[in-house]
Amino acid sequence: MQDIINTAEEHLIHTYNRYPLVLEKGEGVYLYDNTGKKYLDFSAGIAVFALGYNDKRYNDALKAQVDKLIHTSNYYYSKPMAKAAENVTKASGLDKVFFCNSGTEALEGAVKVARKYATKRAGYNEEQPESEIIAMEHSFHGRSTGALAITGNPKYQKDFRPLMPGVKFAKFNDLESVKALVTKKTVAIVMEPVQGEGGIYPATKEFIEGVRALCDEKDMLLIFDEVQCGMGRSGAMYACQKYGVKPDVLTTAKALGCGVPVGAFVVGGKAKDVLEAGDHGSTYGGNPLVTAAINEVFEIFAKDRILDHVNEVAPYLEEQLDALAAKFDCIKERRGLGLMQGLEFSVPVGDIVKKAMDNGLILISAGTHIIRFVPPLVITKENVDEMIAILEKSIETSL
Ligand SMILES: Cc1ncc(COP(=O)(O)O)c(C=O)c1O
Repeated sequence: MQDIINTAEEHLIHTYNRYPLVLEKGEGVYLYDNTGKKYLDFSAGIAVFALGYNDKRYNDALKAQVDKLIHTSNYYYSKPMAKAAENVTKASGLDKVFFCNSGTEALEGAVKVARKYATKRAGYNEEQPESEIIAMEHSFHGRSTGALAITGNPKYQKDFRPLMPGVKFAKFNDLESVKALVTKKTVAIVMEPVQGEGGIYPATKEFIEGVRALCDEKDMLLIFDEVQCGMGRSGAMYACQKYGVKPDVLTTAKALGCGVPVGAFVVGGKAKDVLEAGDHGSTYGGNPLVTAAINEVFEIFAKDRILDHVNEVAPYLEEQLDALAAKFDCIKERRGLGLMQGLEFSVPVGDIVKKAMDNGLILISAGTHIIRFVPPLVITKENVDEMIAILEKSIETSL
């Protein structure tokens, strides 16, 4: 194991503090390292692997597409691309989609839609009007310079200035703080319906409805970033559907492809026809291989009734996390939506996460004090019991 780690450390830019763990294969909700040790996975590759590992149907769909056609440029159509576009627009309830390669890129695209909407709103005058976007404190939208500019975390931004201008940050779940930032230039509001990296904070219904009404009133676009909370994790295909609020632009990635690099932004209503030929592009975006993966993900979601499963198992996870929180003074709060849950501790959680790994459980944190639970959506109640037992032991021995 150590030789692999040494080679990686010698040649990779050290942008991650990785755990000393070399993963080799996955089966269902379990991962195995290269010594054969088994781990229950409650992180799913950071909210990606919704279906569990090594699902034969998914693997076979990818293999079949590999043998047919992996890539062709966006100058042509392919059957998987057309089907995936239909799947994503139907699932989101929006009109048109652009496929890209990651969540970050999906946000970049959404920002471009917003910027161009300002031009459209001004009546396509010669000069592009200055425009502003309101994003949320503690949000996370990616690390490229545009996505980073709308990410409300000074820690990630501080060494990479100047970032894209024209961004202001409001307080999440505080409608008055959003209203106070709106000017004539404001063209869009971007937010995660459930903040993920920022610490698992679901939006309140009043907030999300208030922001929608504000966007309607001031002719601004509402952009929902559902890269993490989307694709069934909330118990609805997209979390905004749990709130009954529709955005103008929605970004999706992670579990959309369940492991192949893919992202998308979907537009509807007044955002539907903003981008035109020549406005945006991607060499790989929506190629036959990744869109075949997307289509199989949607097939399996329907066949296995994944949403029903999430709605059945998520309340049990909440119950068990609440019971755990009641046992330990160091756990301050549980919060979340569906199978996207967080436990906030009064102490840093790094040691607990490491202990859990030693004990055969993979967890991730969100910030220093929060353990984030974003398991494969196929976990069972027995898996929840197993996770709680390991976590309890890990907390006890870390304190
Ligand atoms: C809400 C949200 N938006 C955007 C991103 C960036 O996605 P990616 O890492 O696929 O570029 C993430 C990643 O964690 C995310 O959680």
